[in-house]
Amino acid sequence: MAKEIKLSSQLFATKPLARILAETDGGTHSLRRTLGPWNLVALGIGAIIGAGLFSLTGIAAAEHAGPAIALSFVLAAIACAFAGFCYSEFATMIPIAGSAYTYAYATMGELIAWIVGWNLVLEYAVGAATVSISWSAYVVSLLHDLGIELPPQLVASPWQPVQLPSGELVHGVINLPAVLIVVLISALLIVGIKESALVNAIVVTIKVGVVIVFIAVGAWYVKPANYVPFIPENTGVFGEFGWSGVLRAAGIIFFAYIGFDAVSTAAQEARHPQKDMPVGIIGSLAICTLLYVAFSVVMTGLAHYSEFKGAAAPVAVAIAYTPFEWLRPLVKLAIISGFTSVILVMLLGQSRVFFSMAHDGLLPGTFSQIHHRYRTPYRSNLLLMLGVGAMGAFMPISVVAQMTSIGTLFAFAIVCAGIPLMRRSHPHAPRPFRTPLVPLLPICGVAVNLLLMYGLGWPNWIRLLGWLAIGLVIYFAYGRHHSRLRQELAAK
Ligand code: ALA
Repeated sequence: MAKEIKLSSQLFATKPLARILAETDGGTHSLRRTLGPWNLVALGIGAIIGAGLFSLTGIAAAEHAGPAIALSFVLAAIACAFAGFCYSEFATMIPIAGSAYTYAYATMGELIAWIVGWNLVLEYAVGAATVSISWSAYVVSLLHDLGIELPPQLVASPWQPVQLPSGELVHGVINLPAVLIVVLISALLIVGIKESALVNAIVVTIKVGVVIVFIAVGAWYVKPANYVPFIPENTGVFGEFGWSGVLRAAGIIFFAYIGFDAVSTAAQEARHPQKDMPVGIIGSLAICTLLYVAFSVVMTGLAHYSEFKGAAAPVAVAIAYTPFEWLRPLVKLAIISGFTSVILVMLLGQSRVFFSMAHDGLLPGTFSQIHHRYRTPYRSNLLLMLGVGAMGAFMPISVVAQMTSIGTLFAFAIVCAGIPLMRRSHPHAPRPFRTPLVPLLPICGVAVNLLLMYGLGWPNWIRLLGWLAIGLVIYFAYGRHHSRLRQELAAK
């Protein structure tokens, strides 16, 4: 009995804050601190603007919200802002690469921390694989526009039917472009954080530039009649237009905001994390909210929302209402660069979370080994390259996107819940950034994130539970026996 009590209390043992902070400085075995505030904002924007904006906006407007999709973007931004404030407080207080995993370790104990870390794999690694599959589709389409055709079986997973030039329908063999982008980005991440941040900044400039050009040019051709009615009448089914449609669309385009939290995984590579983390997290979220709202207002003003139904590239539908056909390839380029930076920041975030988990003994030490010259967790990057590359090569895209959302929402809810707990357990610890209105704001954060999780439906809950079950087996088979904290507690 006593042993059981000891076991359960160890499962929920929290990692002392002072010790977490003491571990950040490891000399040449530590990550390199080179990132300034603009790099962090660019990392945030790099991870945020991607498939969500370019693909989901049209679907959500056509099927759920109409022109009021702009309101859905505001609603989803408010939900993310709750989490953004909480992430900012933690990231300045505990500037550690493990992000939500480390915050949970400090507030709710090892088991919950493991579960959060395991869920972050859904957000970052599975998210990167999802986007690599979309990246491949757009590159194939751009090459097609340029008259270059790739063999169909080599650009699709075995789950995906493809048409041969003869008209015959077969299944794909391997999605090679998806593998290629994962390999290239992993190589970049291994070479250095500074180099990675530079490539990210270039790519982000291209995609933000094209988004601004689309807004500025498109605004002149908007037809006010397309905005009437602004909130189309509900069809009688919950979620099909009306206010419930605005809500449902907010849940769908939540995916478009995923990624701002990845800024916090760069905390050990930021020059002044205490000052710059909130700038990176809240700054990138605010900039993307403005761009998203303006983008969706222009898009639904150019074409009637019903025209986006079933459109694979809704932006192209909107561009057809301007005299500027040349915008079309530019938008494709923006989409490809958008996807590239999402993959980059997601893989960066995942390797940093693994770095922290391995440091704590919950994963094998190889994940925390730093390259002596590049000062990056190169083995973690290499292993991720294999895992994410294999997912990109052989997985279907449909399921993984929703798994990304549910895993992220779960992490957000835990981070929000952690703020009041930390305020109670460490009332006097230095907090360079304080979340306003505690506990109201974090409670709203937890509620909104749980609500959005609920909205994703039971098939995703079952997949999440399956994923958690695998994670728990790994924890009880490996992490529990190798945890540094548990070994120390046992020695006492
Ligand atoms: N927010 C990222 C995207 O929309 C995940 O692609």
